[in-house]
Amino acid sequence: MVDYDGRLSSVYTAGRGMTADEVSRWMAAFGAYLPEERPLRILDLGSGSGRLTPGLAEAFQGPVYGVEPSDRMRELAEEHAAHPAVTYLKGSAEEIPLPDASVDAVLMFLSFHHYPDQLKGLQEVHRVLKPGGAAFLRSQFADRMPDLFWYEYFPSAREVDAAMYLSVAEAADLARQAGLDAADEPVWVSGEKTRTLRETYERVKLRALSTFEHIPADELDPGFERFAADADRDPDRVVPAYPAAMLVLRRPS
Ligand SMILES: C[S@@+](CC[C@H](N)C(=O)[O-])C[C@H]1O[C@@H](n2cnc3c(N)ncnc32)[C@H](O)[C@@H]1O
Repeated sequence: MVDYDGRLSSVYTAGRGMTADEVSRWMAAFGAYLPEERPLRILDLGSGSGRLTPGLAEAFQGPVYGVEPSDRMRELAEEHAAHPAVTYLKGSAEEIPLPDASVDAVLMFLSFHHYPDQLKGLQEVHRVLKPGGAAFLRSQFADRMPDLFWYEYFPSAREVDAAMYLSVAEAADLARQAGLDAADEPVWVSGEKTRTLRETYERVKLRALSTFEHIPADELDPGFERFAADADRDPDRVVPAYPAAMLVLRRPS
């Protein structure tokens, strides 16, 4: 389990913040699977510090519920991602504090791998979605891992990362068990901001990614030393941006 009430919450915004342009690209990606009518009611499940909730309220012009178990992440969201249409609620995927068939869409943005009971979480997603509603499972998948360039600094990172995620088929199968229709393949969303080596180092060194909660401690200092030395040598080198995977699920009509 990863503790979002401790150190991670204090570095999350600086280490994982999104630009307005990145948020807009995600809204366009979700909108492609949603009806054009407005307002739409949206649940952001595992909403964290609220990176996406105000964007959801603006794009879909309806109430947004940010459900989040970590008190500290919810406090951050209330401080830094307040919006008149957004309500942050204490809760979890396994126990969503919303009525049956009450939302048009559910977003699980890099939260699914943290659910202790993923099937129960998906059953809850099915329960709160209106028939015909869509759920967006933005996640990594064990069999579609991006080849992140900074893995080279930490010998265990790739394996640690892959171990946190289900394969696409496993995730789709769980969703079907929960009564949701699931695509066989994820869609790939591009548009992550291109960053220099220096900028990427400055973000990654904050260890705002849960990968670093699992990498053996003796790999951290040597890895960051090599990473820092490369960033000093070649600060303006542009590093690759990676398309992001998202599995689209739907509650049958
Ligand atoms: C990597 S963060 C993503 C936060 C946000 N979705 C974002 O993209 O910025 C993962 C979040 O999942 C939350 N989480 C952990 N267990 C959860 C559960 N059982 N149900 C819902 N969210 C959970 C964590 O507290 C954390 O805020």
